[in-house]
Amino acid sequence: MNPPLTDDLRDHLIDMWARVTNDGGSVGFVPPVTAADIRPTAARSFEKVRQGTDALVCLTMPTETEKTCKSLRNGAPLETRQNAQNDLVHIPGTDPDNRPATSPSVPLTGERVVAWLLLAESESLLRRHWRTVYRVQVDPDFQGAGLGTALMAAAASYAKETLGLEALTLMTRSGTGAERFYKRCGYREVGRIPGAIRVAPHDSRDEVHFWLDL
Ligand SMILES: CC(C)(COP(=O)(O)OP(=O)(O)OC[C@H]1O[C@@H](n2cnc3c(N)ncnc32)[C@H](O)[C@@H]1OP(=O)(O)O)[C@@H](O)C(=O)NCCC(=O)NCCS
Repeated sequence: MNPPLTDDLRDHLIDMWARVTNDGGSVGFVPPVTAADIRPTAARSFEKVRQGTDALVCLTMPTETEKTCKSLRNGAPLETRQNAQNDLVHIPGTDPDNRPATSPSVPLTGERVVAWLLLAESESLLRRHWRTVYRVQVDPDFQGAGLGTALMAAAASYAKETLGLEALTLMTRSGTGAERFYKRCGYREVGRIPGAIRVAPHDSRDEVHFWLDL
């Protein structure tokens, strides 16, 4: 939770954000994008993390494990890949019963972020009992292995136990499959604004609002 936003970590998060987008992910941009396209938007979010109004929730993996998993993904038999995936979902800190550390700013020495999201506090004093989840993303090399589910569980646990929140909300664009993912994570659809997101001149998607009581 809230690791120090060093230059290396900023570059790594922005690089992942560009790869996730170019792989078809829905995190505020449409492909093709470069890190340079994303950097100004990222800088605004990182500044909010520095100020403490947004929280950065990351799943990390030892760099050696990351290399092994990547090589497994590139051509290992199905059973071997499934065993690796079982190992991934047991990364320390992703177990919902394993409460997040309350101490902020632990450096990520020897660790690489493989999934992350942000929890934004509202500017309204009347809306401080919940936060908005945004920029949810898993490194494309590790998607489909349970990390997204573990990330959402870790964020909910941190929001409830450490931040003392009562709920989380998030918005997604329709037609991506993410709606199914969030429902699987316990969120319920509470609203939908038709055609609010225009991803291309003749392609407008609904903005779907989700809510999770903690
Ligand atoms: C969406 C995302 C965070 C999910 O993380 P993940 O690690 O791939 O998800 P998990 O392995 O935990 O999968 C959990 C379940 O959700 C499903 N799922 C995940 N992403 C999905 C998608 N885009 N469409 C349909 N189903 C999806 C999985 O199939 C799985 O269900 P199953 O057990 O029935 O097979 C990840 O795929 C990602 O980063 N996508 C690109 C960025 C993005 O679009 N983020 C959402 C912004 S609103």
